[in-house]
Amino acid sequence: MSDLVYLNGAYLPLAEAKIPVLDRGFIFGDGVYEVIPVYDRRPFRLDHHLQRLQHSLDGIRLANPHSEAEWAALIAPIVEAADWDDQGVYLQVTRGPAPRDHAFPEECRPTVFIMAMPLSATPAEVVEQGVAAITAEDNRWLRCDIKAIALLANVLLRQLSVDQGCAETILLRDGLLTEGASSSIFIVKDGVIAAPPHSHLVLPGITYDVVVELAAQEGLSLVQRDISEAELCNADEIWLTSSTKEITAVTRLDGKAVGDGRPGPLFRRIHAAYQAYKHQVMRGRGLAPGVEEGGR
Ligand code: PDD
Repeated sequence: MSDLVYLNGAYLPLAEAKIPVLDRGFIFGDGVYEVIPVYDRRPFRLDHHLQRLQHSLDGIRLANPHSEAEWAALIAPIVEAADWDDQGVYLQVTRGPAPRDHAFPEECRPTVFIMAMPLSATPAEVVEQGVAAITAEDNRWLRCDIKAIALLANVLLRQLSVDQGCAETILLRDGLLTEGASSSIFIVKDGVIAAPPHSHLVLPGITYDVVVELAAQEGLSLVQRDISEAELCNADEIWLTSSTKEITAVTRLDGKAVGDGRPGPLFRRIHAAYQAYKHQVMRGRGLAPGVEEGGR
């Protein structure tokens, strides 16, 4: 069955999955989530995603309803049942249903929801040509390290780029690059890759960490440091990364060409390294040294 989901202890078709309207996720956006890429039905870096989930739950003071082993066991039937070998597994935990009151309920029954979505490969023309992005002021809250389901600011910021026919909105706070509305951002200048360090102002991207590892393996220079708006606008290359978009070159920013307007040489190297890594490790066709296998 393609539309199997998990909700609070039961596996059922999506259309039958119902939550009470007083769920604090619905009323307050009081919950957290993860999106885990699955290649050939093998969840990729599940342990990293579950550790980030724990960080998010700690951040909102909600006890984790499951151990890592339990999460893995809960996800497995969803991955098996899905129609697609490559998927994005979405999981969400909210503080559950309670009479509407900002204060935490005394007794908390968290809502746990898991579903699979298709994960489509980046189209060849996007790899070849890159995408356009715009910049905007980062007006989100100051705990962007928490993967909160309360995504209204991200939604509004992302829509700004949709309105202009662009693929992403790249965010600046106090004149410094933070991240995309739904992605991490890297720049390249004079052969050196740079990305903002993990902090409370950005989501610690799992794909970001893969890129940092791959750059080291490839012998490329990468520094994690603050990046000014001027550096972003004058970069030779800009990349965005996420679990669903992998690595994509941004070749137009605010209507102007980035570099020569084509994906740059370091993008091509890191993209090739990522594809090789995906083939060898994520798809389980051989293991690269020092990198763990994406376990089921
Ligand atoms: N978003 N920053 C933000 C704000 C994001 O929403 C995401 C991913 C990332 C990249 O993180 P990762 O590499 O772990 O996917 C960075 C997911 C895909 C989403 O919300 O659908």
